Amino acid sequence: MGLSAPSIASRKVCDGGEPLVMVTAYDAPGARIASDAGADLILVGDSVAMVVLGYDDTLQVTVGDMLHHTAAVARAKPDCHIVGDLPWMSYHVSPEETVRNAARLMRAGAHSVKLEGGRKRLPMIEKIIDAEIPVMGHIGLTPQSIHTMGGFRVQGTQPEHARKLVQAAKSLEHAGCFSVVLEGVPVRVAEMVTEAITIPTIGIGAGMHTDGQVLVYHDLLGIEDRFVPKFVRRYADLKGQSVEAMKAFADDVRSGAFPNHEESYHMATSDAEELEGLYSSQG
Ligand code: KIV
Repeated sequence: MGLSAPSIASRKVCDGGEPLVMVTAYDAPGARIASDAGADLILVGDSVAMVVLGYDDTLQVTVGDMLHHTAAVARAKPDCHIVGDLPWMSYHVSPEETVRNAARLMRAGAHSVKLEGGRKRLPMIEKIIDAEIPVMGHIGLTPQSIHTMGGFRVQGTQPEHARKLVQAAKSLEHAGCFSVVLEGVPVRVAEMVTEAITIPTIGIGAGMHTDGQVLVYHDLLGIEDRFVPKFVRRYADLKGQSVEAMKAFADDVRSGAFPNHEESYHMATSDAEELEGLYSSQG
């Protein structure tokens, strides 16, 4: 299972803690890779909408989709804390529906849930925590608010907005969140938020002063190459390597070089001879 929510909650870099490593993953092979690489947390993010399911934003994924992917990650039994992302409209309608959706993600194998938004989400966050489900907050650039933000834009660039982000982080901590994702905010704002709260901040596009970092699986491995945001560092070019590998397969099929003798199944010589005999006696 990896780290528990309470042990994550006390991992602050300012107290000498090692920065937390979180990656997204959406299926069993991805979870095994994250686990073998020593990631502390796997986020089964609603980014699955864009990097796996081909949608243009994250608003299209449903609780059903998230359950499907969370269960696939959990079946791999990674040595990581699994965070299930609550999709848009799964925590907006009523506290009952919110708690039920969070519980479904837990039953699918998550160890905690994440949801986007600051103060206006507090009543729902409190209800989920009341049901003994740990909650990770997410503020700054919150992709589920793409239409109200007017696009994927860096947040907190104005002093008053930055002050509100610090307040939002404090209120998430006060409500009982065990950590907060800070997405798409200036370095100094992320630093101020990180200093203002005692639970860890996990940054994405938030600079180097947070208590951990998260990247999307397909971005860090170079599987998604259509758009690479400024904050992404690509540690591999799996898209390029995969295309080259498949071209080599296609060439081998077309030239007859695949499969060869060793890659094929064979009968024992005596059985092959008997078979030949059957055909020749019929013929
Ligand atoms: O869904 C996701 O991948 C996320 C991360 C970007 C934090 O929410």
